[in-house]
Amino acid sequence: MAVDLPLSTLALGAVLILALGLALRPRRARFAAPLPPAPKTSIPLIGHTLMMSGVRWAWVSFYEIWKSMGEEACRSGIMYMRLGNGPNADTIIVNTCKATQDLLEKKSGLYSDRPRMIVPQEYISNNRRMVLTRYNDRWRQLRKFLHTQLHDKLASTYEPVQDLEAKALALSFLEDPEHFADHIQLFSSNVILQIAYARRARDVNDKAIRMMIYSIENWSLEALPGARLVADFPILDYLPAFISPWKKNAIRLHKLELELFNTLTGGVRRKMAAGELPECLMRHLLENQKSYGFDDELVQYTAGTLFEAGSDTTTSLTTSLVLAATNNNEFWKKAKEEVDRVVGPDRMPTFADSDDLPYIVAIGKELQRWRPAVPAAVPHALTEDDEYMGFHLPKGSTVICNTWAIGRDKVVFPDGETFRPERYLGEEGKKIASALNKGHTGFGFARRICPGLHVAERSLLIVIATLAWGFELGPKANEPRPDVFNFSEGFVSRANPFRAEITLAMLVALV
Ligand code: HEM
Repeated sequence: MAVDLPLSTLALGAVLILALGLALRPRRARFAAPLPPAPKTSIPLIGHTLMMSGVRWAWVSFYEIWKSMGEEACRSGIMYMRLGNGPNADTIIVNTCKATQDLLEKKSGLYSDRPRMIVPQEYISNNRRMVLTRYNDRWRQLRKFLHTQLHDKLASTYEPVQDLEAKALALSFLEDPEHFADHIQLFSSNVILQIAYARRARDVNDKAIRMMIYSIENWSLEALPGARLVADFPILDYLPAFISPWKKNAIRLHKLELELFNTLTGGVRRKMAAGELPECLMRHLLENQKSYGFDDELVQYTAGTLFEAGSDTTTSLTTSLVLAATNNNEFWKKAKEEVDRVVGPDRMPTFADSDDLPYIVAIGKELQRWRPAVPAAVPHALTEDDEYMGFHLPKGSTVICNTWAIGRDKVVFPDGETFRPERYLGEEGKKIASALNKGHTGFGFARRICPGLHVAERSLLIVIATLAWGFELGPKANEPRPDVFNFSEGFVSRANPFRAEITLAMLVALV
């Protein structure tokens, strides 16, 4: 039943709620140490929110703001901003390899929570989307389960799927090079669909793929700072749904994604009922649901959200590979030389070649540094007060480890804008490894590090090696080179559509 309230009543209600929210706002205790350096433009109540409102690439803005504060302010590697007025409005932005190691890695027990996300987690995901789950028992349960399914040794059993999909990708590049971005999306999606549901999509217009992308776009926009007033004033959550359009929309999105997850699970159930034994994570979940203590929705979300976690990210990095090659052909020539030498023209690369392909591995790392798929990372939150280099970091702060900035830390990556995989080899490679665990922070941090990284690294390796084996990648003749900064907004960012010249490699064509 729709209820029309006069505007003046609504306005008065909103003012009262805001006033109450402000009055009840927890006051921060006074600490001897000051907060970390912050931009000067802070406004009472909302701090630096306006500086970030409407920016397209938050990670680039954070980085530029930090650099503009001067050498002295940048010394600690961290910056403070107050974004909004919610419970996690204190925000610490981490910008350097050293600060990442000192805080996120060495004190991981303090830095593994997530900020409270009312719309994307509590409403759209009904608190079951692992990547947004707080640092609690449910998260530990999920993490333990995923480890059993995605650890390094088990990940090697998915290699035949990745191998087959890489070959299918090569065929599509050959037949229809203009739509290379779609082929890459299909490759990444099919790897995860098979691991999670023993299902393969025929093309990129498959309903499950389109719906997944729609769902990711929606919840990740809702997770951006400033997306909804309720994130800053949680008290607005008490307003009834009929005057809270965001609530209605979030509930609609929850139903939609649950419907999609149910459909995918239905396929697995049908196969099981027919006596087949589909090799996939969902079958394992259904068979062991009771022993894991997962309710039905948690089962659906655990498998369903793997698709979003693993598919768009791999797509983003592989698309960046093509973008990098349209801009700098030298690295691609070296990649091809390595694959030609190790594999030769008579067969395609396999996982057995991986130890002999250090340059291909280095390209995977350089992609994660140069154009990270999750450039502003997934926010962490601080569970206790902390102190770093004389600065006070308040309990409850949102901690944004700006992967974009960390990959441009001049101490470790002096020529950060250049795509140069050789930095990961030899002495320079050793120096980078001693500064950062994996040489990049594309997979995130410490206890929250991506549990799918063993699968993801394998996907990247086989896809880069296969493309280097079979294809010349470069810019279109007589066209300007694509803009290497033209990327999408949102949590997972990828190159906006661009054109590339993709042709069969000479050596393979001659065979
Ligand atoms: C190149 C591909 C990938 C990239 C760049 C990537 C990146 C990330 C990042 C940055 C995080 C957040 C880490 C943090 O908060 O510190 C994350 C979390 C996660 N990723 Fe990945 N990921 C990739 C592939 C995958 C795959 C293939 C899977 C599963 C098969 C997966 C499953 C997850 C899950 C479940 C989480 C949530 C972990 C948690 O909150 O504890 N990811 N990933």
